[in-house]
Amino acid sequence: MTEVIKIEGGHRLEGEVVISGAKNATVALIPAAVLANSAVTIAGIPQIADVDSLTEILNILHVDVKETVNGHLVIDPSNMENTVLDQDVVTKLRASYYFMGALLGKYGRVCMKMPGGCYLGPRPIDLHLKGFEALGAKVSNMGDLYTIEAEKLIGTKIFLDIASVGATINIMMAAVYAEGRTTIENAAKEPEIIDVATLLNNMGARIRGAGTNVIKIDGVRSLSGCVHEIIPDRIEAGTFIIIAAAMARHMVVRGIIPQHLDALLSKLTDMGINMNVGIDFVEISETKHMNAVNITTKPYPGFATDLQQPLTTLLTQAEGVSRIKETIYIERFKHCDELNKMGASIDWQEGSCHVNGPTPLHGAKVVATDLRCGAAMVVAGLVAQGITEISNVYHIDRGYSEIDRKLRELGAVIWREQIE
Ligand code: EPU
Repeated sequence: MTEVIKIEGGHRLEGEVVISGAKNATVALIPAAVLANSAVTIAGIPQIADVDSLTEILNILHVDVKETVNGHLVIDPSNMENTVLDQDVVTKLRASYYFMGALLGKYGRVCMKMPGGCYLGPRPIDLHLKGFEALGAKVSNMGDLYTIEAEKLIGTKIFLDIASVGATINIMMAAVYAEGRTTIENAAKEPEIIDVATLLNNMGARIRGAGTNVIKIDGVRSLSGCVHEIIPDRIEAGTFIIIAAAMARHMVVRGIIPQHLDALLSKLTDMGINMNVGIDFVEISETKHMNAVNITTKPYPGFATDLQQPLTTLLTQAEGVSRIKETIYIERFKHCDELNKMGASIDWQEGSCHVNGPTPLHGAKVVATDLRCGAAMVVAGLVAQGITEISNVYHIDRGYSEIDRKLRELGAVIWREQIE
């Protein structure tokens, strides 16, 4: 038996949706918490499968994890042990690599399997490893088991060839206890990096410059517990804004930081979407006519690669040819084949695609080949006439908190079924 999501499309949506805590911050904050020597409380944890996997890893490390009645996660590493992480759960998600930086930073040694996650083409971690080596660590591997160890970590200057989100956060975590100052140049500037630096600083770390391309970390001797609230998920927010642009009669996407979505909102304005941007919300009304636009994905504050796939679905409804250039993951176009099964007209090759619109979409059996492809399929299912059946829903559940409930409350007809 396998689970599928079914959507009966064509229903206009109405009402408010409140956005959950950011997945890509959460999955770094949880490993970062083990750097403390007492309990860290994280508020605003989204209900996603990646959190369950990370909790499983914490249990393997003998870290005490409790969920409070109001949904906070209390992570107490007082009795933690630096166990080998060779279990399958490590390969279920990409973000398990944050235990590399956290355990190396705390113990000077980590032994673990390679991370997994969505297949979006090659996703090397050479920049993470180079950063650890620059701090004085040695990296070796036996099969898929990596050992990273250092007698002592010493602060240094690290220039990242690519402004990688993962490498920036991982080096930051490895460097918090290092002797002296670590400077990361060409650091990534994503809001999730600021969130992780904020948690670490509240724990007692000395990190300056997070959110700019130069981050300075002065090593400290001890970090202790604190309370931290996760920033809202800009990708979930963007997905719901795209859903609203496609199908809302009138919708409010609330509990967000609209500045984190400037690149998307500017494109939606160019498309002619009826929107009103508030302090912590975006209000969207029905739009009868949408224009085609061109987008190029870029590191933050550029257009997010994670919103490229759901936006592609919206562009199938816009008048004219939209050109999309993907510069972060050149193979992130599997959703185009799935959309074409539903009546879209998209030509794609490695690195780019052309969306010829508008084309009516019809329900079909489609596959969520990765997390954001899954989001693109949900948008398509809501737009399409008839019933869409989405398989591989575990990808969607890795990153979207209670997506069915949130959509049903807006008037969508969406349910799950177990099929043979
Ligand atoms: N890269 C390297 N070497 C490295 C690291 C990255 O060549 O050592 C390359 C990657 O192959 C990619 C580019 O650098 O072409 C940027 O990758 P980055 O390291 O910034 O990505 P990531 O940290 O692996 C995070 C998010 C992704 C999101 C990207 C880009 C998490 C857990 N994942 O991945 O989120 O697409 O940043 O913004 O934070 C998603 O949420 O669906 C998702 C895939």
